[in-house]
Amino acid sequence: MKIRDSGMPDESYWESLFDVPLILSRLDIRRFHDVAELGCGYGTFSIPIAQAIRGTLFTFDVDPAMLARTKLRAGDLPIVCQQRDVMESGFGVEADAVLLFNILHGDQPVELLRHAAEALRTNGQVLVIHWRYGETPRGPSLEIRPRPEQVITWAHAAGLELSGNVVDLPPWHYGLRLAQAIDE
Ligand SMILES: C[S@@+](CC[C@H](N)C(=O)[O-])C[C@H]1O[C@@H](n2cnc3c(N)ncnc32)[C@H](O)[C@@H]1O
Repeated sequence: MKIRDSGMPDESYWESLFDVPLILSRLDIRRFHDVAELGCGYGTFSIPIAQAIRGTLFTFDVDPAMLARTKLRAGDLPIVCQQRDVMESGFGVEADAVLLFNILHGDQPVELLRHAAEALRTNGQVLVIHWRYGETPRGPSLEIRPRPEQVITWAHAAGLELSGNVVDLPPWHYGLRLAQAIDE
């Protein structure tokens, strides 16, 4: 099932809304080996991540046009780009980081975080970015847009906990690093 409000605007407009190098640097993407991503979109993050890591970037989308665009941009990079409904089937791979970028406004966020947690290797992290709550040039309506505190609450229900602090990702986003919760 395609996640609500997950359609994309024009590619150049979408990519004007992020400082991709800053986001990947602040989330320390280079420390991870294999990375799995829900929603390649135009490959906005897939391509630079595949260039930055030493392992493989697995990226999944339900939209054939998005997959075609990302595959075209990927060239010889170590990217596995497949059509897959992650809500229905999970990720189907194991990775050191699982990315939920601009997507946690669906109607089953805990289920999605569980899928991400299940795909994590030991000591891995789920990396989330989302639109700040408030006025932004794009992003889902405020009624369904989660604040960081809301994501942290959902993460606990999925067996994850915040690692470090909420990360500021100007101009329009925040980020969270989530790790497997340690049972007491
Ligand atoms: C808002 S876009 C974000 C794309 C990318 N993560 C980014 O930030 O540039 C969400 C993407 O997720 C895809 N998507 C929506 N529901 C999905 C699902 N159930 N399984 C896999 N991909 C999905 C959409 O087709 C779309 O390309």
